[in-house]
Amino acid sequence: MSGKPFYVTTPIYYVNDKPHLGHAYTTVAADAKARFHRLRGEKAQMLTGTDEHGQKLEQAAREAGKDPLAFATENSQKFRELWDKLNIQVDDYIRTTEERHKRGVQELWRRVQAAGDIYKDEYEGKYCVACENFLTDLQLVDGKCPDCGRPVESVREESYFFRLSKYEQPLLEYYESHPKFIQPDTRRNEIVSFVRGGLRDLSVSRTSFQWGIPVPGDPKHVIYVWFDALSNYATAAGFGSVEGGSGLPDDTPWPADQHFIGKDILRFHSVYWPAFLLSAGVPLPGQVFSHGWWTIEGQKMSKSLGNAVDPHWLIEEYGVDAIRYFILREIPFGVDGDFSHRQLINRVNSDLANDLGNLLYRTLNMVRRYRGGKLSRSAEGPGAANEEALSGAAAGVAARYETQMEETNLQGGLRSVWELVSAANKYIDAAAPWALAKSGPEERLDSALYHAGAALRVIAAMICPVMPATADKIAAQLGLAGDWLSAPFQELLDFYAMPDGLETTVGPPLFPRIEDDTRVALEKKVAARIAGGDENGEGGGGAEKQKTDDDEAAGLITIENFRRLDLRTATVEAAENIPKSKNLLKLTVSLGDERRTIVAGVAKYFTPEKLIGRTVVIVVNLQPAKLMGVESQGMLLAAEDGGGLKLVGVEGGASPGSRIR
Ligand code: MSP
Repeated sequence: MSGKPFYVTTPIYYVNDKPHLGHAYTTVAADAKARFHRLRGEKAQMLTGTDEHGQKLEQAAREAGKDPLAFATENSQKFRELWDKLNIQVDDYIRTTEERHKRGVQELWRRVQAAGDIYKDEYEGKYCVACENFLTDLQLVDGKCPDCGRPVESVREESYFFRLSKYEQPLLEYYESHPKFIQPDTRRNEIVSFVRGGLRDLSVSRTSFQWGIPVPGDPKHVIYVWFDALSNYATAAGFGSVEGGSGLPDDTPWPADQHFIGKDILRFHSVYWPAFLLSAGVPLPGQVFSHGWWTIEGQKMSKSLGNAVDPHWLIEEYGVDAIRYFILREIPFGVDGDFSHRQLINRVNSDLANDLGNLLYRTLNMVRRYRGGKLSRSAEGPGAANEEALSGAAAGVAARYETQMEETNLQGGLRSVWELVSAANKYIDAAAPWALAKSGPEERLDSALYHAGAALRVIAAMICPVMPATADKIAAQLGLAGDWLSAPFQELLDFYAMPDGLETTVGPPLFPRIEDDTRVALEKKVAARIAGGDENGEGGGGAEKQKTDDDEAAGLITIENFRRLDLRTATVEAAENIPKSKNLLKLTVSLGDERRTIVAGVAKYFTPEKLIGRTVVIVVNLQPAKLMGVESQGMLLAAEDGGGLKLVGVEGGASPGSRIR
């Protein structure tokens, strides 16, 4: 096999969290897509990995009392372990702390800079640490992040900007000429109207923390974590490992054919990422496919609900392939859906145990009883009309399946396969091999069993991208050779290509039915997991944990968190404009026994004279930030009131340096 592989990627996951159902969903989908291409005889390259830089990770490591790299390494490993357990065929696993990645990111930066698309300024606005996203006041919802609902930080710091605004038209033209670049179409339309609404330049560096890749030539800046993270798709493909030219090695899999992502990170992937690449002169990926979000038992996923769908636990209870099947079968890829254990149990019992499992069992059991396990093609070939109907149905399903999988309609692909499962079961009912075994003719019995077996072989091939272990079990019971999947795709899906004389064996049920008592026990376990207790329903501190989780989800902080803020009164001793800045004033404030310089974005509302002598409130323990060349050693508090700004003060005044509690 030569030529570029089909290259599919998942987002690289943040390592401040342990892997959850949402992560498993994208990764299973990408694995299924890569396996589908391998089934078609193509090379495929599946990339996943971890996103290890940024303010969120730095904070999480600090809270865990760990060094950021050690913390990231530990958690990155948890993702790898889950992918092994989920039977994901990972071809490359990238960590953003790897050298190959850092080198590639810096090279991309240099190319974007050389294109004249990077300039230095000051960023003033809001930042959501959880989403690592810059936001304007207008974007906030009730003062909080519009995407995750968490409180945002006010940020004011020197920053490099990327000329995103310059790419408004080029992006729109690109979307127009590549109508499948963003999928599904509803998401594409959202992005097109977002870009039509106008793009603002994007801050692409931070100075208020260290944990990131240094900006080439200005190491006090670290590269914005999304510039860093998005580049992984190209750096893993070798971008930056070759000097000059395209920056890519000859055998690179770049450009990626598909980026699989969740809808929450679509803008980063379909606006920022292609704009960076256009600027750097690197080819764009083929498609960004944005899937929907899972709710859990009808509710938005939170940490406590996440326990009820912890992938490790799901695998233990239901098995890997049942989970892989359920998440891809239950909702169309691209649309939101609900994960309910009841529904999962229904699918295991009906689709997997009754329909597929039973088809295999009843077929091979009859082959054993009536033919000593040997599956022979009838000397007469297909005869009865329903045999041709079955092989015709198989051909129709195979054709539809291929298109659906190609178009990433994974649910549709599985539905098609189950049409054949159902047709094969109906065929057996109608052919009634048990009656043929009694009264013959023998050729008809052979033919009936061969047709059922042939349907199973085609079914096994088509489910293998989603349920690889089940496909292998079916093939083994049918007596196919261990390398059965290496046959050409058309042969695998060719009903009559099943070899004659296979020696079959009856194995244990593929998917045992989940009986009522097990279902009740499972429901109890789910409830206990949601409450955060152990699986016998005992609390184990669960109530308290859930409260913390819920508080976190509601954006509440603990009293300890609040006490970490050092707020004090201060007297403004001097104030002056900062040359070339419309927003900033430089203040000298007294905290009683200490003097500090504060750079405040208040010039539009106050002249320097108006501030001198005022008692103000200052955040004292904020990391210093350099703004327009002046170091600010704290932050002034003020209330936004309509279009105006009012300084926060203290009733009746207070001596400078008084602590605010
Ligand atoms: N690190 C970034 C991605 C950088 S890619 C260059 C990130 N990481 S993440 O770990 O927070 O999320 C990864 C993926 O999980 C996203 O695609 C997101 O949509 C997905 N999900 C998180 N919760 C989800 C559900 N409840 N349901 C489905 N997918 C969800 O974002």
